[in-house]
Amino acid sequence: MNKPAQPLAPPPGATETAGFGRGLPPSWPEAEWPALRDGRRVGVSAPHESAHLHVRGQAPYTDDVPELAGTLHAALGLSPLAHGRLLDLDAARLRALPGVVDVLTAADIPGVNDCGPVVRDDPILAEGTLRHVGQPVFLVVATTRELARRAAARAAEVVHAEPLPAVLTARAAHAQGQYVVPSMHLKRESAPGALDAALRAAPHRLRGSLQVGGQEQFYLEGQIAYAMPAENAGMRVLCSTQHPSEMQHAVARALGWMDHQVQVECRRMGGGFGGKESQSGLFACAAAVAANKLGRPVKLRLDRDDDFLVTGRRHGFDFDFDVAFDDAGRILAYDVTLIANAGHSADLSAAVMTRAICHVDNAYWLPEVAIHGHSARTNTQSNTAFRGFGGPQGALVTEFVLDSIARRLGLDALDVRRANFYGVGQRHVTPYGQGVTDNVLHELVEQLAHGSRYAARRAEVAAFNARSPVLKKGLALTPVKFGISFNVPHLNQAGALVHIYTDGSVLVNHGGTEMGQGLNTKVAQVVAHELGLDFAQVRCTAADTHKVANTSATAASTGADLNGMAAQDAARTLRQRLAGLAGERYGCRPEAVRFAHGRVEAGGTVLPFAELVRQAYLARVQLWSDGFYTTPDLHWDAQTLQGHPFYYFAYGAAVSEVVVDTLTGECRVLRADVLHDAGRALNPALDIGQIEGAFIQGMGWLTMEELVWHPQSGLLLTHAPSTYKIPTANDCPPDLRVRLFDNPNAQPTVHRSKAVGEPPLLLPFSVLLAIRDAISAVGEHRVDPPLRASATAEAILDAIEAVRAGVAATEAVASATVAA
Ligand code: MTE
Ligand code: MOS
Repeated sequence: MNKPAQPLAPPPGATETAGFGRGLPPSWPEAEWPALRDGRRVGVSAPHESAHLHVRGQAPYTDDVPELAGTLHAALGLSPLAHGRLLDLDAARLRALPGVVDVLTAADIPGVNDCGPVVRDDPILAEGTLRHVGQPVFLVVATTRELARRAAARAAEVVHAEPLPAVLTARAAHAQGQYVVPSMHLKRESAPGALDAALRAAPHRLRGSLQVGGQEQFYLEGQIAYAMPAENAGMRVLCSTQHPSEMQHAVARALGWMDHQVQVECRRMGGGFGGKESQSGLFACAAAVAANKLGRPVKLRLDRDDDFLVTGRRHGFDFDFDVAFDDAGRILAYDVTLIANAGHSADLSAAVMTRAICHVDNAYWLPEVAIHGHSARTNTQSNTAFRGFGGPQGALVTEFVLDSIARRLGLDALDVRRANFYGVGQRHVTPYGQGVTDNVLHELVEQLAHGSRYAARRAEVAAFNARSPVLKKGLALTPVKFGISFNVPHLNQAGALVHIYTDGSVLVNHGGTEMGQGLNTKVAQVVAHELGLDFAQVRCTAADTHKVANTSATAASTGADLNGMAAQDAARTLRQRLAGLAGERYGCRPEAVRFAHGRVEAGGTVLPFAELVRQAYLARVQLWSDGFYTTPDLHWDAQTLQGHPFYYFAYGAAVSEVVVDTLTGECRVLRADVLHDAGRALNPALDIGQIEGAFIQGMGWLTMEELVWHPQSGLLLTHAPSTYKIPTANDCPPDLRVRLFDNPNAQPTVHRSKAVGEPPLLLPFSVLLAIRDAISAVGEHRVDPPLRASATAEAILDAIEAVRAGVAATEAVASATVAA
């Protein structure tokens, strides 16, 4: 038995580092070779498990799944009014059109006509009132998609309604006290009345407002659901969704069924970005109701324009602030009001507002602070999750305020930021009562400022501006602190199911969904690492409510944190069982058994993993296991807005340099340097991809994407790429330097990694504030530019004009004083 111990090196000629796909060339970063040779399968840049399929067009999305015989196609008929009383629908006229099989209205829904995720205020099909232009009123089912769309397009002719006055802006709704959920107020004072006293007594005080627009998710794959009646009153729904369990529940409710009758499956999404967290529900429900009524499979795939008109997006916010500060720019007191455009229903707005309120502090200690959040009800699409989930909006206002404070005092904005950073002792508690105990921003910002030559470039930008009358450059460095966990504690749970087949190959299923972010890759890496397998041995399958039940949305960036841990739990159970057997057979303690490179070493014997698995099967050892994880230490009081809502924080910072053409308002990002904390990265390449993607997506939100509703009709005018401009490859900074800040998570997360999906969306605040810096140069930094976001060319020109007017006013006052 006691053979000499052999090192667990990879077998000769092994090319196991090639990744999850078969036949990929091993193109690994050289720096990661030693880790791979040591048998590490986390902390290495495994290619996305579907990368080779994506690039070959071989990765099936919902619409690519071969259709069953008899499949019908549906299209939604949309409200032509922003607000109205629904009187009648002339369905007979539509039924007579070619190819039309049926026209369904609210009356055809056997169960509950609702797909709201939290509050039951989200009709699947309109009933009684019309609430926004684009609200689904009826569903046409036809033999082809084209014929269904043709009939649905006649909505304006067949929907009879009496118009009612519409409220189209958040400010207008706020003025009328019209909200989707109760307003929220968070106040922290050192003593009663201290906030007001500090505002009145402070050496400096600034009042102002800011407006930031919403943002369309613009997932490349639009919303889609394909419902197939199954035996014995069952329904199988393929749906592009971040939340299969919620789709299952919503479909069951709409049909008046039990959850176990409904199966929802999602192999992958062509992007979700929050837009498919709750709002895939309407399509899943509509398709399932039609499929059930007609007893045939029904597919509902939205056209891009309809997708814009039906679904909501990132909430636009209006802010009013009142801030007091000292000569160093340290905030002494801060009172800020957030007004979100929630749209016509609650959807996730309460949670979005909570996250916004919990991110007003961003990286800064706010001694006396009051935050008020209003979720305004308007006659527009119902706004929902979008990467950052309110966090970006909450943090933006404070970054904008600090930028103004610096300008007012003639200080460098970075010095003002540093003076306000969370510190230690008394200065580390957030307004919502959670201590900031893992802060790395002091060091991270230091490294970034140094590495990007911030100070030297600040001088270079000033020198450039001094000799350039038309083109003005700007520079800004902004930090990010982002709380990780769902604000609602019970959502922070996940399950997984891991099977080992008798040939030693492994199949993983978990509660998360794949939307391009690489969740399946990371989870498979965790399992491969645990069992000492090569990537090709491990495969993840579609998210499926029949496999892992009661899942949370893949959202709040928690996908890998939660599902990685659940899968690790399952894999550890399996490894322990296998180690127990190996220890028994080869004479060693189970803990001494090693798994690496597809081999197992026990008591000096090395055998292939598959051989041990075969032995385990014959010995009747269970070769599959579930796993479960709940995030510890979370609590939250939604009434007082106090608690410990986040397990930890993720940090980052970015420096952006822009040039603005002050005659046309055009703008370019010349260079951006990013340093971001993904903990000890599970997969550095995927994490850098997430950071780059979030940076560009956030930059699009803040600089070019703009939503315009017609001020009378309430029609969203920007409902296609022709009028809604998202960033393209040409808009990427020609010089974009993204680096990871290696920082093992202080909390015992999966391999000490950190969530990375959303936090980097806040990094391009630096782009917006660099633009503001460039505009400010027009007035030699004497006037604070009132820049709104999105900083489109039009917004930039408005701000330049305001700066010029401000300069002229100051000069007039100055010359008047001299004359007097
Ligand atoms: N990355 C890609 N490629 N596609 C997406 O849809 N969604 C983002 C982010 N990154 C998204 C993405 C959002 S909104 C979230 S919450 C996280 O991914 C969700 O995945 P995770 O929790 O696994 O990071
Ligand atoms: Mo992301 S907005 O939490 O889906």
